[in-house]
Amino acid sequence: MNRRLLRRGSRDHYLDAALYDHEYRRRREDVRFYRKVADEAGGPILELGCGTGRVTMPLARDGHHLVGFDISSTMLARARQRLTRLPKRCPRPLLFRGDLQHFALGRRFPLIISAFNTLQHVYTAERLLAVLAHVARHLETGGLFAFDVLMPDCEWLARDPEKRWVRRRFRHPETGEQLIYSTNHDYDAVGQVAYVRIYYSPVEGEGNKGQGNERVVHLAHRQWYPQELSLILETAGFRVEARYGGFGREGLSSVSESQIYLCRLV
Ligand SMILES: C[S@@+](CC[C@H](N)C(=O)[O-])C[C@H]1O[C@@H](n2cnc3c(N)ncnc32)[C@H](O)[C@@H]1O
Repeated sequence: MNRRLLRRGSRDHYLDAALYDHEYRRRREDVRFYRKVADEAGGPILELGCGTGRVTMPLARDGHHLVGFDISSTMLARARQRLTRLPKRCPRPLLFRGDLQHFALGRRFPLIISAFNTLQHVYTAERLLAVLAHVARHLETGGLFAFDVLMPDCEWLARDPEKRWVRRRFRHPETGEQLIYSTNHDYDAVGQVAYVRIYYSPVEGEGNKGQGNERVVHLAHRQWYPQELSLILETAGFRVEARYGGFGREGLSSVSESQIYLCRLV
């Protein structure tokens, strides 16, 4: 595994938090899912890798007390801006900078969540076991751990790494710069890590002249296969209560985009 790319791959994509929020502004189904889970399980909720608060704030608006942390200060700064827009009646989430691979809050929660592929930034089975041990130490008896990761997509993983895929034109939400988004990746099938490159290329032309070169953002995603994930969860002392292939609680299948787990400590 390439340590430098792993490090960049868990940081780069989160440096421009405004762009992150813009790119995922239409991602709503997972938020609805976590809101339902929180209503069923109750709070307070601990959120690992809360990012810009995309999931945190809707949960706070529903009246849940939250503690959230993230390793990225830019994502957290954006989450703190969002805090200021929460209505007065909502409990204020407690946000701080922290690493999900080493955390000790000295308290337990009935619900712990980790949304939108955050656990794909844990790159080995040993490390995931260590993370799960931390989760276990922060869960109340009978508490629930809910998270989602991508379902490995063999066709996507095998794509030509030299070609540019997706290609979409958009305007940066803060600078107004017209950009073309495209991606490609290398897949390390032994380490099970996809090293994704996201390209932001300035559009040539009026109003956009001389705005700089193409920017390459690295994103490294561990691919968690369903069988190994279930085994790792079991080894860490969790029982998989439900495993879904979609946020509408569809069954997991070969064509699922995500794997969503609801687990309890045995
Ligand atoms: C795809 S984002 C998801 C953010 C948020 N959960 C959401 O649903 O929008 C992944 C997040 O994981 C965070 N992250 C990556 N490695 C981390 C680590 N070791 N500890 C804590 N957060 C981490 C990133 O900074 C980023 O905010």
